[in-house]
Amino acid sequence: MSLIKTFDQYQAAYQKSVNDPEAFWAEIAQEFKWRKPWTKTLDWNFTDPSIKWFQGGKLNITENCLDRHLTTRADQPAIVWEPNDPAEPGVTLTYRMLHDQVCRMANVLKRNGVVKGDRVCVYMPMVPELAITVLACARIGAIHSVVFGGFSAQSIADRINDAQCKVVVTSDGAYRGNKEIPMKDTVDDALIGCPSIERVIVMTRTRTPVAMLKGRDVWLEQELKHVTATCEAEEMDAEDVLFILYTSGSTGKPKGVVHTCGGYMVYAAYTFQTVFQYDTSAGTQPPLFFCTADIGWITGHSYIVYGPLATGGTSLLFEGVPTFPDAGRFWDIVDKHRVNIIYTAPTAIRSLMGAGLSHVAGHDLSSLQILGSVGEPINAEAWHWYDDNIGKNRCPVVDTWWQTETGGILISPIANVTKTKPTFATLPLPGIQPVLVDENGAEIEGNGVSGNLCIKFPWPGILRTTWGDHERCRQTYFSAYPGLYFTGDGCLRDEDGYYRITGRVDDVLNVSGHRIGTAEVENAINMHTGVVESAVVGYPHDIKGQGIYAYVITDDEQPIGHDTDLTKRDILATVTRVIGPIARPDKIQFVTGLPKTRSGKIMRRILRKIAEGDTANLGDTSTLLDPGVVDEIKKGAI
Ligand code: WT7
Repeated sequence: MSLIKTFDQYQAAYQKSVNDPEAFWAEIAQEFKWRKPWTKTLDWNFTDPSIKWFQGGKLNITENCLDRHLTTRADQPAIVWEPNDPAEPGVTLTYRMLHDQVCRMANVLKRNGVVKGDRVCVYMPMVPELAITVLACARIGAIHSVVFGGFSAQSIADRINDAQCKVVVTSDGAYRGNKEIPMKDTVDDALIGCPSIERVIVMTRTRTPVAMLKGRDVWLEQELKHVTATCEAEEMDAEDVLFILYTSGSTGKPKGVVHTCGGYMVYAAYTFQTVFQYDTSAGTQPPLFFCTADIGWITGHSYIVYGPLATGGTSLLFEGVPTFPDAGRFWDIVDKHRVNIIYTAPTAIRSLMGAGLSHVAGHDLSSLQILGSVGEPINAEAWHWYDDNIGKNRCPVVDTWWQTETGGILISPIANVTKTKPTFATLPLPGIQPVLVDENGAEIEGNGVSGNLCIKFPWPGILRTTWGDHERCRQTYFSAYPGLYFTGDGCLRDEDGYYRITGRVDDVLNVSGHRIGTAEVENAINMHTGVVESAVVGYPHDIKGQGIYAYVITDDEQPIGHDTDLTKRDILATVTRVIGPIARPDKIQFVTGLPKTRSGKIMRRILRKIAEGDTANLGDTSTLLDPGVVDEIKKGAI
């Protein structure tokens, strides 16, 4: 694929993608290895919705990510693994090695009864085996459902049951900073309520003692002794499901976003190459790309695994956290491996910024060429700190906006092509047609305006459905504004036509780049004994972007002289058990009532204002059932 090199070329590509989207994408898709060409490039409507790209096309994404590169780059590193402990030796897997290991793992899955279409839950640390397992599923046409290692047993169980997974692949434990985290134990707790699971495949990482149930649990090491490195890739239809990834919304339990083989592959690879100007011209070692996300999130799926590998690139996989052994760890990794492109989240930048420049000093960052940001709005201070101190003002900062549902980046500068502007995701990539709409769904045209961000035409990476519940997909994304895909984000388009994402307009929080539904947190809090009702809102947090503020009503049954601090800690423990530590409220305020309208609806607007500390401007409270409750909450605000 030829890269876009100038702004004129970007504009020409954009025009073409709007005038003739099918021709535009067909040309890009042709660069991949298809077992059989597609017969219809695009078939769609946003009403059902029904979206099909490259219909009739047959392929296997792992042939594109692995086999295709064996003739030209078998000995080139595909994955460079940096362990949690810098003293532990890392691992470099060339394309040949990765191909062999994926085939072996695929054979292990087959030996354990996995066939095309089966769902496999993957709950693992950030080790090469995680990427290998994901690709092994894709190799045999099994659908992976990766669950982030920070989720609780209950969350794993919910996801396994929703997708009716047959097999779990996990690890005895994980290293995260100076902590050792149990994984198999957590899976065991989850599986008490998961009758669909027939087999648990356990790798060893920490070699902590774990229970191994005869007939259900097998060691990966043992299994690998029985397989060869030959595994023919399963032929998949372009629209066969590649994976499910659960993500939070404003209501109910997390939903399983479904991505399919052909469109997702084309989009992940195209955006990777375009945004990061990733050049794989033959004969040279391509840039080293370091995406700091976890493979448990979409960023890891698209820009650690599929995008870079489908491109023939080299992807760095880091097991640890940015602050271990100290806040210089990212820069240590950049220096040690000569990283060329780093892709991280504003929350990490802000926390490293807070740790001070002494952690940056002494590291040679001259290998860096491009700095990426993803996951939440990046504030001006963090943007400049990144630009000044990490990129030394010689690397473009690409603020990439997208979502689990979009499969890949939608709005972003193209490195060295699009003029950047701090806090702006700038312009839509070719193929993306954003529109801003008002509350009534009317399109807001022109520049210097803001509204709700929608997209009016499909791109290959858009979600196809939500697993097991197509109506929920329609309801969530395609019903608010008929004919449009609604992102849930608010957005500003400035005088230059540049886009700045201002944050969610629904009841979804973004805490340290993690997406959490307020309803989910409320449900978890409400499960705590003695809690009558709760309301959760977000508030601005210096490092996390948003913090979680919970207003909680308890009953009178608390032990006499009960310690409210202890009750708060109990509630936190309950939330950790139900969802996981990422959903723990930062602040809990006990209240005796919540501001409700006469129809019983909680007025979150008021609660948000109080949580933000903006109690002077609460707006109209006259429609409240009991306006007095607001004064009490204001007085007790934390
Ligand atoms: C939500 C999607 C994109 C992969 C990681 C998060 C917010 C994401 C940006 C950005 C402002 C951003 C949006 C979006 N978001 N990137 N560059 N600027 N906001 O994926 O968990 O599905 O969350 O993250 O609010 O809707 P996700």
